[in-house]
Order: sequence, then C-alpha cells, then structure tokens
Amino acid sequence: MSTHAADAPLAVDIRGVWTTFPLANGGEQVVHQDLDLGVRQGEVLSLVGGSGTGKTTLMRHILGLETPARGTVTLMGQPVAAQDPRHAATRVGMLFQQGALFSAFSVLDNIAFGLNEWGHLPRALVREMAMVKLQMVGLEAKHADKRPSDLSGGMVKRVALARALAMDPPLLLLDEPTAGLDPQGADDFCDLLRSLHQELGLTVMMVTHDLDTLLALSSRIAVLADRRVVAVGTAREVMAVRHPFIQAYFGGGRGQRALQALDTATTWPDAVPPGTPTPRTP
Ligand SMILES: Nc1ncnc2c1ncn2[C@@H]1O[C@H](COP(=O)(O)OP(=O)(O)OP(=O)(O)O)[C@@H](O)[C@H]1O
Ligand SMILES: [Mg+2]
Repeated sequence: MSTHAADAPLAVDIRGVWTTFPLANGGEQVVHQDLDLGVRQGEVLSLVGGSGTGKTTLMRHILGLETPARGTVTLMGQPVAAQDPRHAATRVGMLFQQGALFSAFSVLDNIAFGLNEWGHLPRALVREMAMVKLQMVGLEAKHADKRPSDLSGGMVKRVALARALAMDPPLLLLDEPTAGLDPQGADDFCDLLRSLHQELGLTVMMVTHDLDTLLALSSRIAVLADRRVVAVGTAREVMAVRHPFIQAYFGGGRGQRALQALDTATTWPDAVPPGTPTPRTP
C-alpha cells in the first residue's frame, strides 16, 4: 500500500479555519471561512485557486507565521500555535513564492542560515551539512561561494530548496516552485522535486498555477475557492466536480490535454520510477 493511502495519518490537519484581515475602511476581509484540509503523510498535495484566494496565507498558518482568527492547524499531531517557533524549521521547510535568498550572503551561507540560527554547531560541520544539501539539489560545490545575483533563476530555486531542506524537515511547503522558470527549467525542477520526494520520503504541500507541474507531481489536488476547499481528490476526481473555477481552470483544451497526459500513465507519480523525465503537455 502506498504511504499516502486514504488511511495514512495526516501530516497537516486544518480544521474550521477562519482568516480575517482588517480593511482600511474599518471593515474586515474574510479570506478563509470554515476551511478544512488534510495533508496525508507521504503525499504531494497541490493547492490551486485564483490569485488572492489565500493559498500563501494557508501555508503561513502551517508555519505559524500567521494565526487564524478561528479554527485549528495541527502539524504532525501537535497544534501549530503551541509549538516553539524555533522548532518549526525541523518540522517544515518552505520554498517561498518570492525566492527570498539573502543577496549579501553566499550560496552556502544562505543554505546554512537555519543551521546557524539553530544552535552552536561547529562552523566546519555546518559548512559540511550545507554542502550535502547543495549537492542534493543538483548543484556543484564550485557554486558554494557565489552570490545569489551570480546564479540563474533555476539555480536560485535550487538554493532556496536546499535551504528549506537544511534541517531535514519531514514536510516541505512549495509556493509556486516553477513560476518564472522556462519550460526546460520547470521540467528539470519537477524531476528534482519528484526524486527528492521519493528518496527522502517527504510529505509535500505545493501551490502551483502551472498545469504541467500540477499533473507531474500531485498525488491529490485541492481547490481553494469561495473561501474554502471546494474539491479535493485525484486530478480526475477534481476535474469531475462542477464548480466555475474548476471548469475554467481545467476546461477546454487544457482539460483535454490534462486527461490525455493522465491516460499516458507515465506522467502519474505512482507509476513513475525516480528520475524519469516527464514530458510537458504541448
Ligand atoms: N498580512 C496581511 N495583511 C492584510 N491582508 C493580507 C495579509 N496577507 C494576505 N492578505 C490578503 O489576503 C488575501 C490572500 O492573500 P494570499 O497571498 O494568501 O493569496 P494567494 O492565494 O497566495 O494569491 P497569489 O496566487 O496571487 O499568490 C489577499 O487579498 C491579501 O491581500
Ligand atoms: Mg501566493
């Protein structure tokens, strides 16, 4: 049985969450209203939804960077609110939507940032641990002392991923991991994510607008609309749900190509051996 079967324990359990932000006119914006979502251990759960529907905010709840007005967020069986924020990086790594490397730091110091914050590990050990992560994301040691401005967009994403994995967290949050990459770069990054997911036994929650990335990596897809999760399931199950956002997102040619991609079976994660490249839909 696969590790993300329906009865797998939940890595993340979001129950009855309400998120509100104050508006300038004195009112409030309700972003999430009684939202439920579970992420099963070992799966790649992808979150799709229109811009501003609160996808990044949901990830900030999991990290404990933002507290919901109501409801609970449970991470590995413990309420997020009750956790020491310093421990968060050992439980969850995040690849932020805006890359967010420190421009004045070298590649290696960016990766080592959390390790240095965490405690008083010897410098040589921290350097060695960061080097392992650099190689894990497919970058050669010769890049270790470069600045972020000396890297390609794809390399920046890899360094940010290495930093997210620095403390070996079991859960990885990816906010638009392939945005801004060219098709080849996006394919390569998907291949890397797929092999890391399998080799490290990670649970992954990903936000993406990119249909190719969605189909290449997702075990299940959750759709955020109307301030809550309106559908969750396999791509086929979600595409069968009647909702205006789902019909617009998967409708027409995009949906047809998505179904064709599923029918070739080779693109579906459970059927793909590690390292197999996934063809992007034309
Ligand atoms: N700290 C904040 N203060 C006030 N409003 C906020 C704050 N954070 C998020 N919002 C609002 O909450 C809504 C959801 O924002 P969020 O960034 O989560 O959307 P998103 O789904 O990630 O969008 P995108 O796809 O464009 O990245 C937006 O209207 C945003 O303006
Ligand atoms: Mg966002």
